[in-house]
Amino acid sequence: MAASETSVPDIDDLYQPTHDERSRHDFISVLRNFAKRDMRDEMEHRFESTARPAFESEHGRAPETGREVAAAMSGDLYYRFYSSIRYNSQEMMYLHTMDPVERKLPEMIEMARRIAEERPTGGSLELNPDMEIPRYVTALDIHLAPGCFHSEYVEDDVAQGMLLAQGGGVAFGANVHRMRDAGGVGRSIGYYLTQKYPDFRPERILDIGTQSGKNLLPYLDFYPDAEAHAVDVGPATLRYGHAKAEHAGKAVHFRQMNAEHLDYPDQHFDLIVSSFFFHELPVTATKKILAHCRRLLRPGGIMAHMELPPQNQCDPYLNFYWDWDTRNNNEPFYEKFRSQDFFDLMTEAGFERESCFTTTVPDVGTFDKELYPAFLSGEVEAPLHGRGGWFIFGAKID
Ligand SMILES: C[S@@+](CC[C@H](N)C(=O)[O-])C[C@H]1O[C@@H](n2cnc3c(N)ncnc32)[C@H](O)[C@@H]1O
Repeated sequence: MAASETSVPDIDDLYQPTHDERSRHDFISVLRNFAKRDMRDEMEHRFESTARPAFESEHGRAPETGREVAAAMSGDLYYRFYSSIRYNSQEMMYLHTMDPVERKLPEMIEMARRIAEERPTGGSLELNPDMEIPRYVTALDIHLAPGCFHSEYVEDDVAQGMLLAQGGGVAFGANVHRMRDAGGVGRSIGYYLTQKYPDFRPERILDIGTQSGKNLLPYLDFYPDAEAHAVDVGPATLRYGHAKAEHAGKAVHFRQMNAEHLDYPDQHFDLIVSSFFFHELPVTATKKILAHCRRLLRPGGIMAHMELPPQNQCDPYLNFYWDWDTRNNNEPFYEKFRSQDFFDLMTEAGFERESCFTTTVPDVGTFDKELYPAFLSGEVEAPLHGRGGWFIFGAKID
């Protein structure tokens, strides 16, 4: 059922910024996107034209790592200005989302509660108040989101779900670029799977670290008969996500669970996905979760995790660019995660090396679909990760 066909209300309709708040959202969106796109290009130019030659004359060689590029760039005023805009726009995008959430919070809670009781589309929501939230989530406000992924302030709270979703919308410019698809990652990987493996028909799908489930829902457009499951540690984001899925007419079974201890039976899933997830974890947790993925995957199944590309697949400048968040955006695990060999991580978790892959798939919202066959045959490359492409790592097992 499409969203327009359901009579389930959309909880997002209760997010009602005033005219001034909306203008602020738009300003922050444009500022952040300016830094991430336009300033990124100029910064690379400054590196090539100034910082790199200076480093070479001092060391007799080019920088070889992201950290060396960071050291070479550290005094560059344009880079410092870029960092300042990135940091401040990140902080502002959540701060200016809080008021409209707080104003309507009782109604939001009531709506999510009613939807969870009635379950009109047949999904479910199972929370576990006794579950210990991992310290790597509770210890700091990851990517400067106040309250991080997990906080709850009142009974049946949905605030954190709404805050992260609306703040994320500001981040990626949902208001100023109305065509942007919030579930673009899931849509792009789902489309890729249907083109690459036309006979693949998953019966059960699991999304790990789902938050609102926005990147899980598109898989159900490609595989409408599949049973969809989603786990996360954050109760408020799950309540919000469940309300959104039911509104979209998609039955998703949301559970509050630490993915290090996934308690589904062996070989329970045909497709296991995640997006923007593993870079939030210490490598010890990543290893445990990948081992669960191997245990949970049925023969013929596929695992596909969208993530940042690893350091060994990027040049030193890109490594500097991607690892910026480690020191400037409360993302303590980015750099360590990216320093891993993803094939080693997967084989250590029990996957056969031959079954593992890494690739970058085009964003279907912006890529010319007529070029897709040429992309699949290797004649055309996908755009770089974050610039029209999405990096994924995973496996297809026999
Ligand atoms: C950056 S968000 C990604 C959200 C979503 N997948 C998306 O595409 O937008 C990372 C999510 O992982 C969740 N998470 C972190 N550690 C987890 C764990 N050990 N088990 C389950 N979820 C976890 C967080 O609560 C958060 O919602």
